[in-house]
Amino acid sequence: MSDNQASLTAGGTTLDMPVKSGTIGPDVIDIRKLYGQTGMFTYDPGFTSTASCDSALTYIDGDEGVLLHRGYPIGQLAEHSSFMEVSYLLLNGELPSSQELADFSRTITRHTMLHEQLATFYRGFRRDAHPMAIMCGVVGALSAFYHDSTDISDPQHRKISSHRLIAKMPTIAAMAYKYSVGQPFVYPDNKLSYTGNFLKMTFGVPAEEYEVIPAVEKAMDRIFILHADHEQNASTSTVRLAGSSGANPFACIAAGIACLWGPAHGGANEAALNMLKEIGTPDRIQHYIDRAKDKNDPFRLMGFGHRVYKNYDPRATVMQSTVREVFAALNVQDPLFETALRLEEIALSDPYFAEKKLFPNVDFYSGIILSAIGFPTTMFTVLFALARTVGWVAQWNEMISDPGQKIGRPRQLYTGPTQRDYVPLSER
Ligand code: CMC
Repeated sequence: MSDNQASLTAGGTTLDMPVKSGTIGPDVIDIRKLYGQTGMFTYDPGFTSTASCDSALTYIDGDEGVLLHRGYPIGQLAEHSSFMEVSYLLLNGELPSSQELADFSRTITRHTMLHEQLATFYRGFRRDAHPMAIMCGVVGALSAFYHDSTDISDPQHRKISSHRLIAKMPTIAAMAYKYSVGQPFVYPDNKLSYTGNFLKMTFGVPAEEYEVIPAVEKAMDRIFILHADHEQNASTSTVRLAGSSGANPFACIAAGIACLWGPAHGGANEAALNMLKEIGTPDRIQHYIDRAKDKNDPFRLMGFGHRVYKNYDPRATVMQSTVREVFAALNVQDPLFETALRLEEIALSDPYFAEKKLFPNVDFYSGIILSAIGFPTTMFTVLFALARTVGWVAQWNEMISDPGQKIGRPRQLYTGPTQRDYVPLSER
């Protein structure tokens, strides 16, 4: 830690505050004594200047377009690693040996089945329910099933809950899809990889053998890697905040899923593909660019812009190359990809997007790949949630194991009425 100090004069008091340094990234001013010594809070809606925790998991340099998990660049992990290996890395801090990876994969595989009673939860939903609504409900319901591992002060219990969540998420996601198309649920097949198993549970049917296409399995696994964790984003902060009260881990992850669903966050992949469909052909792009720039029009280019990346999102680069690989493997051509490439080109040469540093983010190209693989748009955010679960549980574990952990409790600037007396109904 650096011994630098920052000072602030407020309310007639000058306060010296420690400046803390991480291993990389901007320093932070430790303002914890601010209220006690000056009677003032800081004001930072949207947390644009506030670090909410210490974390050793993921580092983002938004200006340089860098994303590291436990120090490893996302491009290297996407190219050389697997989702199971990245999950191990996020949870344990180091890359596994081959024995450790085999043991971890076996443990996860052993937890892939859902309690049979959970199938009845699905049947309570309308068939046209959004699969994110189903996922949110079913993951929350897990808290009513696994009472043997919910003592969050016990590291072994936390480990089992984490493994269960990572293992069951593909089964839950695939069942949400099966329910919406009216097909029977497909049970997990533990001979397959994590990702191959998910593809089979989603696209297989009991009446036929299902063969996993290796190129699709690889692309899907890579998409999971790209979504595995992303520092203190809205859904991760939601999981941490929910978890800070000591809440049940399954309920905390359900809270994260609810937050992820919004179109400004994980829902953007669905919104981006819907936008590309609405634009349709390249000749209509300029009209939508003009709309995105118009202050009086709420329209935004979905899949563009990011709170932290003010340079290209490194995940978008990998996504773009994965589109080509999947198209080649499945022998498909989607004119929307041409529209997306052209839209990116036009937007990046427009001063509005340059000045505001708006670049394609991870969601801009992911919908095109997922749709080529056969997923309906409503499943896109579900896949994001599936992959992000490992990040959520790793962050939740990191928070709970911190001895200095406290319940999260932001303060406010109150702007309502000052104290006044109750007026009886007859006098109003
Ligand atoms: N299209 C047009 N203008 C935009 C866009 C966009 N996609 N994004 C931001 N702007 C403008 C915005 O109007 C504002 O302009 P001004 O300063 O003149 O008021 C300026 O850029 C800054 O925008 P902001 O909303 O204050 O920035 P933010 O950091 O709060 O929001 C964001 C980040 C991702 C919510 C936003 O860029 C956005 O809504 N993008 C579209 C949705 C999207 O693709 N979300 C996925 C994010 S990546 C995956 C994930 O994290 O889940």
